Amino acid sequence: MNQLITFEGADGCGKSTQLQLTTAWLRHQGKQVLQTKQPGGTPLGVEIRRLLLSGEFTPIPECELLMFLADRAQHVKEVIQPALQAGVWVLCDRYSDSTLAYQLAARGLDEKLDLTAMLAFAEAGCVPHQTFWFDVSIETAMLRLEKRQQSGEPSNRLDDEAMAFHQRVHQAFGYIYQANQERMIRLDASASIETIQQQIQQIIQKKIRC
Ligand code: TYD
Repeated sequence: MNQLITFEGADGCGKSTQLQLTTAWLRHQGKQVLQTKQPGGTPLGVEIRRLLLSGEFTPIPECELLMFLADRAQHVKEVIQPALQAGVWVLCDRYSDSTLAYQLAARGLDEKLDLTAMLAFAEAGCVPHQTFWFDVSIETAMLRLEKRQQSGEPSNRLDDEAMAFHQRVHQAFGYIYQANQERMIRLDASASIETIQQQIQQIIQKKIRC
């Protein structure tokens, strides 16, 4: 049975590489796969992504949260739900756990808000069957980000946040994992690309057999 699988982790954790490898491998297994991402998985979402991440604007935390949720709501209804209904495997780079880590925890909105109902509203019933969390030390993540920047790859507005922000994101993912172990698999993101990919394939292989 096809599934919605999400890839989560702090900036610079290496999840996007693994997402691409997993997509290629699943297709090789004869599965139909949609590889997508948040924010920016729809034409409207591409615009929301630009507004959120280009650095042209600095939304207040409340606005930032609502824009990520708006992107997700559009993406779920326009792309993810129809794909799942058509039997396609959906691999999504970031989903609601990112909102919990970045907006709720790192931006400190958790003191003001119970986000559960809002997350569910945007997800419209499309809850991930499985989430891979790429657990990377804050030092490694920052080094990878620096390297990316040195190689000329442009950083986004959130990459450029202070170290303390990234630390809060990192810590939040740990808490989210503790609370959702039936759905989330922790992967040691300091392992080699090949080792991590093998672990992912083994886990998905079991699902394919079910
Ligand atoms: P992206 O370039 O896709 O970064 P990465 O390769 O690290 O995933 O940018 C997405 C950024 O948006 C990233 O910094 C995390 C952030 N984000 C949130 O803050 N909240 C969210 O709900 C989502 C989906 C992403």
